Amino acid sequence: MHWSSLTALALVAPSTALIRFGCSQLTVQRVDPLVNPGISPSPHLHQIIGGNAFNISMDPREDIGEKATCTTCQFSEDFSNYWTAVLFFRARNGSYHRVPQVPNIGFEGSNGGMTVYYMQDGLANYQQTSKVTAFKQGFRMLIGEASYRSKQQATRFRQITYTCLQDLGTRFPESMHFPTKPCPAGIMANVRFPTCWDGKNLDAPDHMSHMAYPESGTFESGGPCPASHPVRVPQLMYETIWDTSQFNEKEVWPEDGSQPFVWSMGDHTGFGSHGDYIFGWKGDSLQRAMDSACYVNCPTLKTQSVPAMNKCKYNEVLVDEPIDGWLDSIPGNPMEKMESK
Ligand SMILES: *[C@@H]1O[C@H](CO)[C@@H](O)[C@H](O)[C@H]1NC(C)=O
Ligand SMILES: *[C@@H]1O[C@H](CO)[C@@H](O)[C@H](O)[C@H]1NC(C)=O
Repeated sequence: MHWSSLTALALVAPSTALIRFGCSQLTVQRVDPLVNPGISPSPHLHQIIGGNAFNISMDPREDIGEKATCTTCQFSEDFSNYWTAVLFFRARNGSYHRVPQVPNIGFEGSNGGMTVYYMQDGLANYQQTSKVTAFKQGFRMLIGEASYRSKQQATRFRQITYTCLQDLGTRFPESMHFPTKPCPAGIMANVRFPTCWDGKNLDAPDHMSHMAYPESGTFESGGPCPASHPVRVPQLMYETIWDTSQFNEKEVWPEDGSQPFVWSMGDHTGFGSHGDYIFGWKGDSLQRAMDSACYVNCPTLKTQSVPAMNKCKYNEVLVDEPIDGWLDSIPGNPMEKMESK
């Protein structure tokens, strides 16, 4: 399906909530306040978007929707933080280069970052007409496992995929592994979170077990939540567009023809893709949006301009290390550590 056919749904669906918005880059650093709070540097590099209350440690009792003073997101009441690993290109000579991020169609001018979705499910009609309960202050979650390197492992997660972009509108097919051929408009990494909450815990030791996938079917088809996790929450989804186009010459790809991209945790397969989330919408703004007939745009919510999004930054340098230009190794040297295990 092409993005344009999603837009066409808007014309036939009178009561729907699906918000889709761009967020510029907040910072790119080796920091992870969810999995490695207080640890500097964290094992691998992340790219982070959202509110400027982001920090090396983030106390869940602190309301970042109140504490933050700016956000890189288009909806200016969203001070949540969203992050993923960072993609690198490995040249034939063994040097690495960080792959730049580019905005999706409709968010031109935004500095890198990601596109974020919150969706109601489809009740079998794919039209986002169900009721969902928004996440609450203090809520956080992770999906994906950075150490996974096989399809068998990654099958545990249902919807963490890649799209090889022929142009910025390409949405299918998706694969669980990195694309194996050059992608003319880049590689889009898609991370969809589970949609059933236990209704009690804002977090879990593994940052995952308070959440579950529908018992049968999918979120999109209106699949029911299991009794252990009965509360239907919006489907959170990230799209990150990695502009691999400057690395597409086959002469700089490995001689055996294999694909040259690698995640910041040293993953050449793509199966280690993961996304992190710390909720930070101000007050009840997310619930209000989910209860309104918002489709992509949302008059219920306040918005800000692209220059205002780009201006918000997290300026503290937690780890002073090079991440740009040609590098001898990925920051933190995750590959070497794996080999010495
Ligand atoms: C981050 O946390 C440190 C203490 O751990 C604090 O000194 C600093 O001001 C915080 N930064 C922001 C932007 O809140
Ligand atoms: C490695 O290859 C890249 C791409 O061809 C080149 O730009 C870079 O200068 C090379 N690095 C070294 C150390 O030779």
